[in-house]
Order: sequence, then structure tokens, then C-alpha cells
Amino acid sequence: MPDMLVKTYELPGWQDLKDELEQDGIIIKQALMPEMGRLDAFAREHFSEGWASEVMGCFTNKPVSCYYAVRGEEIIGFSCCDSTARGFFGPTGVLPAYRGKGIGKALLLAALHHLKDLGYAYAIIGGAGPTGFYEQACGAVEIPGSVPGIYKDLHV
Ligand SMILES: CC(C)(COP(=O)(O)OP(=O)(O)OC[C@H]1O[C@@H](n2cnc3c(N)ncnc32)[C@H](O)[C@@H]1OP(=O)(O)O)[C@@H](O)C(=O)NCCC(=O)NCCS
Repeated sequence: MPDMLVKTYELPGWQDLKDELEQDGIIIKQALMPEMGRLDAFAREHFSEGWASEVMGCFTNKPVSCYYAVRGEEIIGFSCCDSTARGFFGPTGVLPAYRGKGIGKALLLAALHHLKDLGYAYAIIGGAGPTGFYEQACGAVEIPGSVPGIYKDLHV
């Protein structure tokens, strides 16, 4: 899985998408410290222990660099940035039942705008799985020679 580069100075806006999701009762939120335990448990239950650890990493930052999607009381997706490495996006995940509705794109753009606001001119999608998703949602391009990247030799 290659890393991908994103120009944060050419990011699309996401207010319209956010508003559309809100009309369907789906809210995208920046996480707050008291939500750390619940987001850790969500990532661990639905994705992996490694991803849950990266979620926890976001809570070492101020402002916290984790975003999540919620419908009613149910958490349905999350995204992280500036966790495993500075300027990196990821991991992210949306529950299977909610995919294909723009939630992943909204969570991605929320985090990329976070990095832009911190002063990054470029962001890196670390170990991008669905590269087509990132190309489409934010114009990301593969970084040559970035496999295996910093995620090699993980013991998780
Ligand atoms: C990747 C993921 C977060 C996308 O979430 P999602 O809510 O389904 O994505 P969206 O509905 O916002 O899709 C946005 C656009 O990307 C496209 N897209 C979504 N997944 C795609 C994929 N795997 N490949 C190519 N394009 C994809 C959609 O068709 C959509 O295009 P449109 O704007 O023209 O309609 C979700 O599929 C997921 O959780 N996958 C499992 C975890 C994972 O692989 N995470 C990434 C780790 S790097």
C-alpha cells in the first residue's frame, strides 16, 4: 500500500457535504478528550487494535486530531491525522452499512482541513488502501517508492 500526497492548498470545501449529511441525521464532529475511551473501543471493535492505538495517538494532540461521524447515539465512522507521523492522514473507517453515502469523504476532508489549518502545505495519506477513494475525494497521488513506508515490520 503506497503513501499518497495531497495538496492541502487545493483542498475542496466540504460544508455542502456536511450540510447534506446533517439533513440525514449524520453529524461529523471533532473529538473531545472525554470521548477518547469510546472512540478507542469503536476502532478496536470494528477495525483493529493497531487502528485503535492510532486513534489514541490523536488524543495526545491539542487540538485533538480525531474526527468521527455519529447518527443519534451511534458512532458510525472515524478519521485520524497527525497521529503516527506528523502531517499524516489515517487511519479512517466507516461502518459497512453506512458506506457510499459521502461519510468517508467528509471525515477525510475534515482531517485534511485540520492539517491545512496547522500549516501543512501537503498532507500524506499513510499506507493508502483504497487509492481510488483518495484520488477521487481529494486529488491524492501516489508517492513513488513509498512501499512499504513507515508501516513496515509492525508487530501488532
Ligand atoms: C474507504 C472508506 C473510508 C470510504 O468510506 P465511504 O463512506 O464509503 O466513502 P464515500 O461514500 O465518502 O465515497 C466518496 C467517493 O469515493 C468513492 N469511493 C469510495 N470507496 C472507494 C474505493 N474503495 N475505491 C474507489 N473509490 C471509492 C465513492 O464512490 C465516492 O465517489 P463519488 O463522490 O463520486 O460518489 C470505507 O470504504 C471504509 O471504511 N473502508 C474500510 C476501511 C479502509 O479501508 N480505510 C482506509 C484505510 S487507508
